[in-house]
Amino acid sequence: LEQSERESLFIALNFAKDFFVKNLDTPEGRSIGLSYFKERGFTPQIIQKFDLGYALDGWDHLMKAAKSAGFQEEILLKAGLILQKEGDPTRLYDRFRNRVTFTIHNISGKPIGFGARILTKDKNQPKYINSPETPIYHKSDVLYGMFQAKKAIRDQDNCYLVEGYTDVISMHLSGIENVVASSGTSLTDGQIKLIKRFTNQVTVLYDGDNAGIKASLRGIDLLLEGGLNVKAVVFPDGEDPDSFSRKVGSQAFHDYLQANSRDFIGFKIGLYKEEFAKDPIRKAEVIREVVQSIGKIPDPIIRSVYTKEASSLLEIEEGILLSELNKSLIKTQ
Ligand code: GTP
Ligand code: MN
Ligand code: MN
Ligand code: MN
Ligand code: MN
Repeated sequence: LEQSERESLFIALNFAKDFFVKNLDTPEGRSIGLSYFKERGFTPQIIQKFDLGYALDGWDHLMKAAKSAGFQEEILLKAGLILQKEGDPTRLYDRFRNRVTFTIHNISGKPIGFGARILTKDKNQPKYINSPETPIYHKSDVLYGMFQAKKAIRDQDNCYLVEGYTDVISMHLSGIENVVASSGTSLTDGQIKLIKRFTNQVTVLYDGDNAGIKASLRGIDLLLEGGLNVKAVVFPDGEDPDSFSRKVGSQAFHDYLQANSRDFIGFKIGLYKEEFAKDPIRKAEVIREVVQSIGKIPDPIIRSVYTKEASSLLEIEEGILLSELNKSLIKTQ
């Protein structure tokens, strides 16, 4: 029984995907959805590759079409496609309305959810609305773009990790396909395990703002704990991989990634270099932070390699780092 319910959910999600995709080819979809994507530089091929679509303006376009096609309300509710009105659960309406849609696929390419972006600058509504957890969509085990990226991740033996849907898509347009998005949430063990099926190397490309840098620091420690080799790139203030790649063009974007990839030690030092050049106390704090990250690495040989590197980059005796490291290793046991 549970198996057949999952199957129905997959079929409903696929129906919704087809519906949103076809909407892009209606007069409303062309003038609002398609022109939005075009403005962002998305080509017809990339729109097709990522199953991008458009949710029509109105309360029940999807629900009506799905019911005519034979889907039960109960399945549409479980699929996260429709909602019950607060205070009147018999009244049902579409979750995604008047937004462009980003299909979220599982690793074998089946649609399991959607992200949907607002088209106006209305600050009273969330910029993105996402599918809820369902029996076929466990957010903590999914990374956006993995279906389209997995082969390239294996071939390149590296996975770029970005924040958003549009970062993934713009990087594909720049010719970089080994990229997935954490979709603005903190990384989970399930997502890290998923990456490890394809590579042991992650390069974090979060937004060049305070939130992005904080999230990079958190993400780096989680990835190190998961036994991955981690690099990170900082973008100029206010830029994300999407905006920056469009601003400078593919070639300069490639070059920027090459020139600015740092391992986690170089990344942390880079963030605080100017401060600690003048302030020894600040430098001591950075050293402690680097040691704390090294302490997350499960492999003692890799830990030792990074300790040596930190000692030379931070110009501090290795013995001192090792004794600090031992303290932090004991604490976490
Ligand atoms: P654009 O503005 O379209 O370029 O999107 P972005 O990806 O640059 O957005 P941002 O950097 O603000 O957020 C990164 C990711 O976090 C998005 O791609 C979404 O997955 C998620 N996110 C952003 N805003 C919201 C929101 O209002 N609600 C939810 N649930 N998720 C959001
Ligand atoms: Mn389950
Ligand atoms: Mn951001
Ligand atoms: Mn962003
Ligand atoms: Mn953006």
